[in-house]
Amino acid sequence: MRFPGGKGKTYHHVINVMPPHRVYIETHLGGGAVMRHKRPAARNIGIDPDLKVVSAWSAEGLSRVELVRGRAEDFFAQYEFRGDELVYSDPPYHPQTRRQPRVYNWDYSVEDHERLLALLVSLPCMVILSGYANSLYSTSLVGWRTRTFQAKTHTDVREETLWFNFEPPQILHDSRYLGTDFRTRQTTKRRLQRLRDKVARMDPVERAVFLAMAKRRVSLHIPERRAMTQTGAILTRTGTIQIEFPSPDALLINDVRWGAIDAFPTPAYWQYQVIARRLAGRPAAYKLGHTLSEEVAACVLGGHGIPAPVGIAAYEKLRKSGAFAETPPSVEQFEAWLREPLQVGQRKVRYRFAAQKAR
Ligand SMILES: C[S@@+](CC[C@H](N)C(=O)[O-])C[C@H]1O[C@@H](n2cnc3c(N)ncnc32)[C@H](O)[C@@H]1O
Repeated sequence: MRFPGGKGKTYHHVINVMPPHRVYIETHLGGGAVMRHKRPAARNIGIDPDLKVVSAWSAEGLSRVELVRGRAEDFFAQYEFRGDELVYSDPPYHPQTRRQPRVYNWDYSVEDHERLLALLVSLPCMVILSGYANSLYSTSLVGWRTRTFQAKTHTDVREETLWFNFEPPQILHDSRYLGTDFRTRQTTKRRLQRLRDKVARMDPVERAVFLAMAKRRVSLHIPERRAMTQTGAILTRTGTIQIEFPSPDALLINDVRWGAIDAFPTPAYWQYQVIARRLAGRPAAYKLGHTLSEEVAACVLGGHGIPAPVGIAAYEKLRKSGAFAETPPSVEQFEAWLREPLQVGQRKVRYRFAAQKAR
């Protein structure tokens, strides 16, 4: 299916501004040249109110594309955004820029354009919009970035504009079309292949940290209010698993924040390490405890000048008393247990810091 203004020859320009995303939403789908050529996201949604368009797609049976027959505006009103979506809209051209009066079954008035722009600027995710430069777009899309490219029409060559609401990406969702011509694309491909081989040779845990860092660099380019979580990529034998962690600013306890997963030694960093090791089949080996909280307790009880056997005896006593059960005991109960004499070898010993609070 070919459309006037379709992206059949220019899709790579659009794909080359796309940062990684989980959900891809292409409104004003038409022939959907971009949807067809880009690497699919985890979820792919195509929207068009024209029955002919939707039927043509359905007939092709591309099961990875969820088709929605309806208007983009109505779809946005009910879709629950998570922030990791990328919306691409290629609406019919603005009347001001159009050379022929009417080209689609479902056309777009100036009011339609205004409504669409108002919606797009309010979306809590990444958005790319394409069209010919016009005054409505430039006054509505304040602060958006633009990139232009030349596109052949059936009569001449015209400059098309891409407007997008994020920093130009340093990492692309699909890098296969990198480079403006064949030669540069080949060189880039080779350079990337060498890099890929290098990453494949890395130690698995190091590689996972590296990938998480790369991911984080990408999320840094998403405006603050959108980065509600951070994602860690963990490479396993069977593929990459993405795990979401709370945002670096989220509070863990009291005034301790989660921090960034790639910033040693934040809680998120350790959480990530533990999960990555478990998934790699190399769970963290605890020395004294059986769980992380037991291990931490054993370390705390053995610190501050307490002889090792006394620390271990205190820890064993607390563990047997049920101090690390699902519901933690009260501070008083803890203290009472620690005040009782400990059996260390043949001797009874008192734990010196029974009332000491961890700071
Ligand atoms: C410029 S064409 C899209 C061309 C497409 N990018 C391609 O590569 O073929 C515009 C499309 O927008 C659709 N459309 C019109 N009004 C719409 C609306 N309110 N919401 C979503 N799509 C709409 C039309 O049916 C038409 O298929």
